[in-house]
Order: sequence, then structure tokens, then C-alpha cells
Amino acid sequence: MTELDFGALFDSLSRLPDVEADNLQAYDATDRLLLETAVGFSSPRTRIAVIGDRYGALTLGALAGLGVEHVRVHQDLFTGRLALQRNAQMAGAEGRYSPHELGRELLEGVELVLLQLPKALAELEETADAVARFAAPGAVLLAGGRVKHMTVGMNSVLEKYFGSVQPQLARQKSRILVARDARPVDAAPPFPVVGPLPELDITVSAQGAVFAGARLDIGTRYLLTFLDRMPQARCVVDLGCGTGILATMVAMRQKEARVIATDQSAAAVASARGTAMANGLAGRITVLHDDAMSSLQPASADLILLNPPFHLGASVHAGAALRMFEAAARVLAPGGELWTVYNSHLRYRPTLERLIGPTEEEGRNPKFTVTRSRKR
Ligand SMILES: C[S@@+](CC[C@H](N)C(=O)[O-])C[C@H]1O[C@@H](n2cnc3c(N)ncnc32)[C@H](O)[C@@H]1O
Repeated sequence: MTELDFGALFDSLSRLPDVEADNLQAYDATDRLLLETAVGFSSPRTRIAVIGDRYGALTLGALAGLGVEHVRVHQDLFTGRLALQRNAQMAGAEGRYSPHELGRELLEGVELVLLQLPKALAELEETADAVARFAAPGAVLLAGGRVKHMTVGMNSVLEKYFGSVQPQLARQKSRILVARDARPVDAAPPFPVVGPLPELDITVSAQGAVFAGARLDIGTRYLLTFLDRMPQARCVVDLGCGTGILATMVAMRQKEARVIATDQSAAAVASARGTAMANGLAGRITVLHDDAMSSLQPASADLILLNPPFHLGASVHAGAALRMFEAAARVLAPGGELWTVYNSHLRYRPTLERLIGPTEEEGRNPKFTVTRSRKR
């Protein structure tokens, strides 16, 4: 396969339902390098799994360029799954891939794994363990990333699970690490980490990729100090639930409320389910994998708790938080309340006023502001 062939495929891909813009592409040089490297490690009969595909470039590239009939795929983000579905339809490749959660179903018998390296080492560790644990003996893991995002810590994590980890020459600012000779794994996988959070007197379950791991984020800790001031609700949503600490605490406080915890990340959803179970709340908390509550009815909730993403870089965080405020505006019933915590320098209040309704500052400490917005 020539570069030109991948080029035509890649140019046809869309990021939808994620934001689309002229300067945003649905693929990157790492996708291309992973696929070109994979040519040397595969035949049309090779069983292949793809992990961390953003919008489908790796999956559809493997199907188009490596001669294989079928690939198995794991994507953490709900929007990534929708984008792959849509792009596969456009490419006439529905049915030629199967989506799976990270685990045995995804990896059993697999001989070649193509991985877009995650940012967090814990997520990489969970992935490396799963490949070493479930893939075929002799399987090869091609882990690719942008050079500027790659750290020696990534090599160390891979070396813990594989006897051989070889960095390849960088190309177009991307690099591949070839990992093979899986080492024997411990009987118990490293994730989820399940442990007590003594300051809240609950147990937290955390998969590798979840925000804050098994710890309590300091913004969340601050928002929790306002629990008593929040109105009794019939339906509460923990929007962007991560490990589900907010959902757990509100479910314990508001015994009559129906509680929904929802996140775009599959790792968060698995973690929140684990946390609910560990605290005896599995029957009280419904956990949904979704993008910005798209599956919830308009005006169906009377309380939403939100600690929006803030650590991703200026433009992205504003967009991601805005999306969640817009979603809250849609899902809150008139008179319902959104309680949000954010870094005080962010000045979200005018936006909250505009999108949702009258917004009071309920508290502020040196770092964070907590606001209450009433749906008009
Ligand atoms: C700052 S973390 C807060 C996590 C958790 N509530 C806590 O307090 O520890 C923000 C969370 O929002 C999720 N998120 C970001 N954008 C989202 C979207 N469009 N829909 C659903 N969840 C989203 C992220 O995956 C992440 O888990």
C-alpha cells in the first residue's frame, strides 16, 4: 500500500460527532506510521486488534491496507465509537470490525495489536497488562505516539510487561515502540484499583484511564462541601462522573433520588459501576456511557453536579466545558439546578447565566469557584 492510498482514505474520514474544523483532522501521522509499520508484521491471516483509535483511521486503514478481513477494536470515548461507526458506513466497512471493551474478548488469539499511546501511564499499564495477559503467545504490540508526548516512563511500563521493547526511528514527529515477548502476568490484573477514600468514608474503584485514579480531586472535594445546600431532587445527574464519587455521595445523602452517573469514557463508566457496587449502591446509581447526556430526555433532571474537564489546554477545555453546560441546559427541568466547580480564573459565570439561567457564586477558595445555576 502506498502513502497515497492511506491519504485518500484518511481525507475521507470525519470527526463527527466531535467538533470539525479546517485545522482539525480525523487522523495523524502516528496512524499512518502505525499502519505502515504493521505491513511488516502482518499477513492477510493475522488476527489484529486496534486500541485507542480516535475516529477510525487505524481500523479502516488496517482493513483497507493490510488485507485482513476483520479487526477487533477498543475505543475509550463514546464519540470515537460513533465516529468509527459513521466512517465505517461511509467506507462500506460495517461488519468488518467488532467493538469490544478492553479485555479477553478483544485480545484472545490476537497476534498483532496497533495502539495509539494514551497520555496516562496508568492507562498504558492497563493496556499492556491486557495484551500480555490475553493476546496470543508471540503477539507483537506496536505502540505509536507523537514524539513530543512520549516519555521514557512509557518504555518502562512496556518493559514491565514485555521482554523486548524497541523504539523505531521517528518519522514526521511520530515514533513506534515495538513490544514483544510478553512476560508472565500476575494472577490479579493491576486495574481496577479498589480502595478506601477515608476522608469520605467510601470505597473507590478506578480503571487505569479514569480521571484522578482512585484519589479525590481537589475541585471535587470542594464541590462536595456544598452537598447540604443542594436541593432534594427526584433525578440527579453526575455529569462527567469519572469514578462516580459525586454520584455516590449524593446517592447516600438523597435516599429517594434516582441517580445517574454518566461519562464519555468507558474507563470512567466501568470505574463508576465499580464504585457504586463497592458502596452497595449498584441498585441506586444508573451508569451511562454517553456523550454529554445525549440519551437523556430534555427537562428530565432537577439536579446536575459537574466538575468539567479543565486540564487539557486552553481551547479544548473551554469547548469541552461549554458542551457540558449546553447539555445541562437541555436536560435540566425548569427550576432545576446545575452545581459546578471550576478554577476561579476561568470566569464561566456569564456563560452559565446565558445558557442556563440565574447563577450565584456559592463559594470560592484560593483555587476554585462553586456556582449554582437555576434553569430558567
Ligand atoms: C474533571 S473530570 C471529573 C470526574 C469526576 N466527576 C470527579 O469529580 O472526579 C471530568 C470528566 O468529564 C468527562 N467528560 C468530558 N467531556 C464529556 C462529555 N462530552 N460527556 C460526558 N463526559 C465528559 C471526562 O471523561 C472526565 O471523566
